[in-house]
Amino acid sequence: MALIDPVLLKPRLGHLAGRFDVDALDECDSTSSELMRRADRGAPAGTVVVADRQSAGRGRRGRTWMSSPESSLTFSLLWRFPGPAARLSGLSLAVGLGLAQALETLGVCGVRLKWPNDVLIESAEGFAKLAGVLIELASDRRGIQAIIGIGINLDAPGGDFSMPVTGINQACPSSPDRHAVLAAILASQVGILEKLTVEGFFCLKSEWQRYHAWHGQMVQILTDGATPQVGRCLGVDDDGALLLESASGIERIHSGDVSLRPAGSALGDANA
Ligand code: BTN
Repeated sequence: MALIDPVLLKPRLGHLAGRFDVDALDECDSTSSELMRRADRGAPAGTVVVADRQSAGRGRRGRTWMSSPESSLTFSLLWRFPGPAARLSGLSLAVGLGLAQALETLGVCGVRLKWPNDVLIESAEGFAKLAGVLIELASDRRGIQAIIGIGINLDAPGGDFSMPVTGINQACPSSPDRHAVLAAILASQVGILEKLTVEGFFCLKSEWQRYHAWHGQMVQILTDGATPQVGRCLGVDDDGALLLESASGIERIHSGDVSLRPAGSALGDANA
């Protein structure tokens, strides 16, 4: 029996229940891969696949995503946009924002966003990753199709990670039930995705920046095979690009991994 029961989820979604068709699986390769196959067969917007185990869970930038049934929540949501694609430039950040807002309504403390959409928790010990988002886009005659894959730690996973990790149960005094977590996230995504479709990321930008983990701080951007770029992180622009100020001016960053630059680094120290 899967850990998510769609029957228990429905009342928690309230008036939004009809917007979603949730299928809970014991196991699949990846909820995003499974949902992509269903989307190709014509699944409607609002289809959700949630799985206890993924044998080939995928993360951003070609990484794998590990999850374990009791201590994580892994699911993918299908959404369709009428287009044009340019409207969706901030989609990745918008989804992260919806996730952050949902977690805050559940009582999770210290929620922050690391560009483009990692959810971090800030505590006295520093920053730790709580959740990640993987968005995959395709277009067909109906417009743009987005597979929005979300992985959340309910408990901090063990193992070696590139940054510290944490879980909802560590960051929230009340340890919310997983059905409440999933319902809150799905509900917040409806509002955010509709706002993005109608008004664009411009209208979500200031709210995103309210959660921005490293606003005004020195960071480095790692991009495959390139020299790390170093600069002061000025937030995001109307399209969701990260604004990085270095000795050579302000650059718009569209991809890469951001991390805090260790103390003592100089502005424009691009080759360090
Ligand atoms: C990241 O690298 O931070 C993004 C991780 C996204 C993982 C989720 S888990 C549910 C969905 N299915 C996948 O295979 N990946 C996403």
